[in-house]
Amino acid sequence: MRVAIVGSGKLGTPLGRLLAVAGHDVFFSDAEPDKVAAAAQAAEGEVRGGSPLEAARFGEVVVMAVGWESFPDVVAELGAALEGKIVIDPSNPIGERDGAAVVVAVPDGLTSPQYQQHVLGERVRLVRTFNTKYPNELLDLGLAGQRGGARADMPYWGDDDAAKKAVVPLIEDAGFTAIDGGGLSEAL
Ligand SMILES: NC(=O)c1ccc[n+]([C@@H]2O[C@H](COP(=O)([O-])OP(=O)(O)OC[C@H]3O[C@@H](n4cnc5c(N)ncnc54)[C@H](OP(=O)(O)O)[C@@H]3O)[C@@H](O)[C@H]2O)c1
Repeated sequence: MRVAIVGSGKLGTPLGRLLAVAGHDVFFSDAEPDKVAAAAQAAEGEVRGGSPLEAARFGEVVVMAVGWESFPDVVAELGAALEGKIVIDPSNPIGERDGAAVVVAVPDGLTSPQYQQHVLGERVRLVRTFNTKYPNELLDLGLAGQRGGARADMPYWGDDDAAKKAVVPLIEDAGFTAIDGGGLSEAL
């Protein structure tokens, strides 16, 4: 599958690597080209790299691995390139204040991915997953699962059943057992 990684930081890099190892066609992107090069180097297998817009146009699935507070700006930047696409949202509502991580209140009593779906609009098919592990843990558990070891559970949530069904093989190929957590209102 063609997978775009928008945000090649701590989470996007190992996730892209796991999917590239599994044979998916991974396209890393970031606001900073240096981070794209570093992510591509960390990945095993052939990967592509470029701008977030190029990545979003390329991907059948677009992973938004940017900070929660950057999400609306990145969505505005990518605009029509996301329309009709499946977007994977691993973002937790964490922001930064004076150099420290803080939990951000999600507006309107929504869950975090319900808010992200609101930002994305109804023509984007959101699936929330890969948000429950730290990056090193994600990589170690994923590689272990890919190599035939015990598989860790990876929950996923969404309101679009076809999009959820399409994401399950990605979760499994990344080395995890996909666990359906229900709709976006039930998401962690
Ligand atoms: N790290 C974790 O433990 C963890 C665990 C689970 C889920 N998550 C979630 O995963 C997401 C990414 O977290 P992270 O830890 O990987 O953060 P990170 O290391 O800061 O990576 C985010 C990347 O996105 C880039 N970015 C910012 N604005 C962008 C834009 N407009 N277009 C393209 N790229 C842009 C950032 O570049 P700059 O540095 O230049 O801003 C950075 O390289 C967050 O929502 C987080 O909640 C993280």
